[in-house]
Amino acid sequence: MKTDSLFDLTGKVAVVTGGGDGIGKGCCEILAAAGAAVVVSDLLLDKARAVADSIAAGGGKSAAVACNVLDHEDITRLIEFAVATFGTVNILVNNAGMGGGGRENPYNIDRAYVERIYAINVFAPWQLCKLAAPHMQKSGYGSIINITSMSSINNSPSMAIYGSSKAALNHLASNLAFDYGEMGIRINNVGPGATRTHALASVLTPEIEAKMLAHTPIRRLGEVSDVAGAVLYFAAPVSAWVSGQTLMVNGGGVQTLD
Ligand SMILES: NC(=O)c1ccc[n+]([C@@H]2O[C@H](COP(=O)([O-])OP(=O)(O)OC[C@H]3O[C@@H](n4cnc5c(N)ncnc54)[C@H](O)[C@@H]3O)[C@@H](O)[C@H]2O)c1
Repeated sequence: MKTDSLFDLTGKVAVVTGGGDGIGKGCCEILAAAGAAVVVSDLLLDKARAVADSIAAGGGKSAAVACNVLDHEDITRLIEFAVATFGTVNILVNNAGMGGGGRENPYNIDRAYVERIYAINVFAPWQLCKLAAPHMQKSGYGSIINITSMSSINNSPSMAIYGSSKAALNHLASNLAFDYGEMGIRINNVGPGATRTHALASVLTPEIEAKMLAHTPIRRLGEVSDVAGAVLYFAAPVSAWVSGQTLMVNGGGVQTLD
């Protein structure tokens, strides 16, 4: 039995949010390596362009577009751009997200902060699912992957808003799996543990890292490629009968921030 076809995305079109850096960039690269045409979207167009250009230079298919997922019109334009450029949307990676790293003192944050975190971590993925699903159904192949977090299942101090927003995204997917199943669309979540990106670097100290590793059976922090591998699994035909699931990619155990 050959396994290549199980991971082959030739002819498929993928859209990734926050694809200009970190985990999103890794997702763009691995999906393109598997043969997908990749729409790299990011708040910062220059970063998206750099990723798309590098994929194209390596022989892959890619296009860049600016999209701030906090802007409803940008989100609509992103799906329109993918359809106009590559004909459809088969794979959607809801990666852009924020919060958590700076720790949230629950007495100091205001309602605007909470609304912003939920807008980027929950409302934007929901809207993108809604806009992409009809194209996936029409094309006959659909897979949605949300990047959530280990914080979606951990209970930690000063993480209530980020953690609950990512938990909401887990639950959105496990419920939408019922609605989307008969449309031929799968929807799953990948929950990274601490993964080496610019976002993590901005909050990581040697002390924090040592404490995290004490709870991590595979004694290292995650790399972008670790998370991207799980995204490829959910995007590809190999996971054809898997939907509504959350896979923690966190070195095993229960990796905590303390
Ligand atoms: N790195 C970790 O340790 C870790 C752990 C758990 C979950 N996550 C999740 O992974 C996802 C990616 O995190 P990362 O560490 O790769 O971040 P990152 O900061 O390395 O990259 C994020 C990218 O998203 C873009 N972006 C920021 N705001 C945006 C917006 N409003 N609209 C569109 N694009 C936007 C940035 O320009 C950047 O290119 C997030 O959802 C985050 O919550 C990360």
